[in-house]
Amino acid sequence: MKVKKCILIIIAFIFATAFFTYSEEDKPLQIGNSAFNHLQRSQVLFDHDGHNEKAALEDDCGTCHHVYDDDKQLITDETSEDSPCSDCHTLKKSKSNSISLRAAYHKRCRDCHFKVKKGPVLCGECHVRSKVSTVSTQKE
Ligand code: HEC
Ligand code: HEC
Ligand code: HEC
Ligand code: HEC
Repeated sequence: MKVKKCILIIIAFIFATAFFTYSEEDKPLQIGNSAFNHLQRSQVLFDHDGHNEKAALEDDCGTCHHVYDDDKQLITDETSEDSPCSDCHTLKKSKSNSISLRAAYHKRCRDCHFKVKKGPVLCGECHVRSKVSTVSTQKE
């Protein structure tokens, strides 16, 4: 009896580890959103590398991860991928930064999609209700 229980636990453990490893690898990046007090919309899942490959942005990290001199002058040959957007863009716009965090995402993400006429522009296309269907759309 005891041995059986033990084996069952081991089997369960193996399955759990396998599942965990699998889902970690497949999981699209979750954009840091702890700065938003409570989410009004579903979390946007962003397949970082896949997106940037499709949109030909792989050599253009600074398009999203930019650096400013004195909060004013864009420095084009430096990047800030070590900092989440929320390091510089606060919930409400401030004296040093006139772009709130939400506006930063919408201006960066949605405006490009409008401009190039590719990629999602409707609320529900980025803030997808069911996370399961987001993952499968991104894999197609
Ligand atoms: C289309 C916009 C975009 C482009 C282009 C882009 N990134 Fe990102 N990246 C993001 C966003 C959004 C996040 C999440 C930031 C946050 O949580 O505030 C992120 C996060 C990251 C992170 C942190 C990863 C993590 O798991 O927390 C790294 C490292 C990174 N990017 C590197 C790069 C590099 C290197 C390039 C260029 C090859 C690049 N990015 C190009 C949008 C972009
Ligand atoms: C190291 C600080 C820093 C980081 C990190 C940062 N920004 Fe910014 N961003 C700024 C500053 C400073 C400005 C200029 C604000 C102003 O003009 O008042 C700015 C302006 C912007 C603008 C308006 C100008 C434009 O380029 O269209 C957008 C949109 C934006 N940021 C999006 C983002 C996004 C999205 C991220 C994360 C992927 C991010 N920023 C990360 C500092 C930062
Ligand atoms: C410089 C332009 C540009 C920026 C900035 C940009 N995108 Fe995109 N995005 C595209 C293009 C182009 C496509 C269409 C790619 C294709 O399928 O050919 C796309 C497609 C998408 C898709 C559809 C699924 C996929 O991964 O292809 C999602 C979701 C998406 N973008 C989210 C975002 C988010 C979130 C951000 C901001 C963090 C962002 N995009 C910033 C150009 C951009
Ligand atoms: C191109 C993709 C895109 C589109 C289209 C888009 N958003 Fe967002 N939005 C984002 C990203 C990225 C964030 C920051 C990450 C997150 O919240 O998961 C965000 C954040 C937000 C937030 C703050 C966080 C929260 O959930 O409270 C709100 C509110 C929001 N969006 C509402 C909207 C509404 C309303 C629309 C339609 C008018 C819209 N968004 C369209 C990408 C998009």
